Amino acid sequence: MTRPATTDKKAGPPRASRANPDPRTRRRFCTRLLKWYDRCGRDLPWRRTLDPYKILVSEVMLQQTQVDRVIPKYHEFLGKYPTLKDLAASKPDDVRNAWYPLGYNIRPYRLHSIARETVARYGGEIPREDEHLRAMKGIGRYTAGAVRAFAFNEDAPIVDTNVMRVLHRVFLGKGDPKKQSSTLWAMAEALIPKGRGYDFNQALMDFGAVVCTARAPSCRTCPMKTFCRTYPGRPKRR
Ligand code: ADE
Repeated sequence: MTRPATTDKKAGPPRASRANPDPRTRRRFCTRLLKWYDRCGRDLPWRRTLDPYKILVSEVMLQQTQVDRVIPKYHEFLGKYPTLKDLAASKPDDVRNAWYPLGYNIRPYRLHSIARETVARYGGEIPREDEHLRAMKGIGRYTAGAVRAFAFNEDAPIVDTNVMRVLHRVFLGKGDPKKQSSTLWAMAEALIPKGRGYDFNQALMDFGAVVCTARAPSCRTCPMKTFCRTYPGRPKRR
């Protein structure tokens, strides 16, 4: 049986909780994040384009590889396959060779098959709809979100390891982040300021890579420390 829609007039908006931060904390988080990004965001080559194909290439490369290693390969790969149609027209094994030495070699084959499918089904234009993107083999929730946010400025959430760590530390502070992934995806979506999907997601990724790092986070200078649930100096709430 499907769950009936609520008709309780008194229900009102959902109450703030660990998984659903109150509006003031949300606003403070977003304002401080975007301000930090304005000052400290990294100038990365895939942030200089809105071409969905180039963004897709960068995101597939970044899935398992550090930014520093991706940058030269991103330029080299796009020099060889400047458009999605060039990639679709090439041989899968050549693409794999062009990928070397990035590793996780299923990725070039997947990218190539996405390019062929995009040509066959969408005339070579990468679609912007979540369901169309995710129907393609090799595109999951993360990659679909990244293409929608970075190529089409949709307010789509993107949760990678860095984002998961930041949101978990700031808003949850307890338990294993991996076991709370659906909460963190919902939170990532709810936090996006309307119309700012691009900047918000890029900022969150950089913040996780530069400030709220896995091993040596810069807690003392962190702009979120006044409300972060993991900040060492913050009094514990019961
Ligand atoms: N990792 C994955 N996507 C990224 C992006 N767009 N910028 C920086 N790091 C990333």
